[in-house]
Amino acid sequence: MQVSTRTISIIFFFIFSILLVWLFYTNYMNKDNEIRLIPNDLSLVTLGQNIYSENCASCHGVDLEGQENWQKRDDEGYLPAPPHDETGHTWHHPDEYLFLMTKYGIEKIIGKKYLNNMPAYKDILTDKEIIAVLSFIKSKWPNQIQEIHDNINVRSKLN
Ligand code: HEC
Repeated sequence: MQVSTRTISIIFFFIFSILLVWLFYTNYMNKDNEIRLIPNDLSLVTLGQNIYSENCASCHGVDLEGQENWQKRDDEGYLPAPPHDETGHTWHHPDEYLFLMTKYGIEKIIGKKYLNNMPAYKDILTDKEIIAVLSFIKSKWPNQIQEIHDNINVRSKLN
């Protein structure tokens, strides 16, 4: 009787452990999958193109060219909107950073007060829409830049 109770406890312990590992693994995998730009997904990129022209083009430019003198702060201390094409520095940042910045705004991400004109889109766009618009932006970069950006993503995941 005693032995069988022990056996049952051991079996339960193993089932419980496997469940925990599985939960941890799927949770981790989901997080990992959640934020990934897919510049070769045509329907996602088309959705992103529409979102871009409605929400981003007014500042970042119809052709992703940014505003004039985008590296110079104006008299009030604001930076103009940078280009999202390969001449800007959008591609220097990994997927997750671009996503969080678009969703929550720059201050939230750097964690301190910072004068800037980039709106936060958390109440305007869904997560999928943000991924779509950023995937559209990535799809406009030359292949070589897209490859460098893929590597930036891999490196950022290792940290
Ligand atoms: C009202 C103007 C405005 C609109 C609209 C706008 N942005 Fe911005 N955005 C800015 C400005 C200004 C900056 C630079 C802020 C700074 O660094 O001081 C910026 C910066 C960014 C950056 C960081 C780029 C980098 O290299 O660090 C990303 C990403 C970004 N915007 C994405 C978007 C997306 C996506 C949209 C549309 C959904 C959008 N922005 C709409 C003004 C705007």
